[in-house]
Amino acid sequence: MSHALELKDVSASYGHGAILHDINFDVPAGGVTALLGANGAGKTTTLRAICGMIETHGDVRLFGESITGKTPEAIARMGVAHVPDGRGTFTSLTVLDNLRLGAFSAKKRTNFRKSLDQVYDYFPRLKERSGQHAGTLSGGEQQMLAIGRALMAEPRLILLDEPSIGLAPVIVKQLFEILEQIATEAGVSMLLVEQNSNLALKLASEAALLEVGNLVARGTSEELSQNQEIARAYLGDVSDTGAQA
Ligand SMILES: Nc1ncnc2c1ncn2[C@@H]1O[C@H](COP(=O)(O)OP(=O)(O)O)[C@@H](O)[C@H]1O
Ligand SMILES: [Mg+2]
Repeated sequence: MSHALELKDVSASYGHGAILHDINFDVPAGGVTALLGANGAGKTTTLRAICGMIETHGDVRLFGESITGKTPEAIARMGVAHVPDGRGTFTSLTVLDNLRLGAFSAKKRTNFRKSLDQVYDYFPRLKERSGQHAGTLSGGEQQMLAIGRALMAEPRLILLDEPSIGLAPVIVKQLFEILEQIATEAGVSMLLVEQNSNLALKLASEAALLEVGNLVARGTSEELSQNQEIARAYLGDVSDTGAQA
């Protein structure tokens, strides 16, 4: 199986002491992997390590090519788009200008119009609101904008940091349906960080579980869902969609 992303013995720190310790997992090419774990486990740190934002050791490979030690700009140009926690949209810019910024790191800019049409196709609300300041959008729309902006870079791999946080269940459901479309139709590989494990395991084919900076389990989503210990500790009530109203 070919991989969009491979982490081999990856350690990372913010400068004083390792936060991640020899992490190993991967994202299949064209697939979705869920990265799970409690608050403070190191999920956001893992995404930052992949993006080249913090000191990282070990090997991070993108479609077989090592990206360890490269700058965030170089890694973005190679096709990695990061949708950070808190979304990171520019609230004083319009929706369209936020999307324009997303296209900035694309390798070739000739497909701007095509990418924009595709983003508007996935998120018609963004088209309706293209002239509005991002700060006037609802939480769900801002998350859509953050994902849309990432798509404008025509990424091969998207890193999503808790896209469901703070959104009403009905919005989360819509958002995850669109993420599924993006993964299956556009063939974009995804690493999905979620505290809402049930939701994440439905979208992902594989999952990795972090506990205070250590990888404690990995496997197919089915394997992780069926593991009683994991289910008890992390998955809660299986009927729970987990999102906050
Ligand atoms: N900028 C930072 N500087 C120093 N330590 C940090 C920083 N950001 C996060 N940490 C620490 O790294 C650990 C993992 O945090 P994080 O990756 O944000 O966890 P998660 O995303 O799983 O909730 C925590 O102990 C946190 O305090
Ligand atoms: Mg986090």
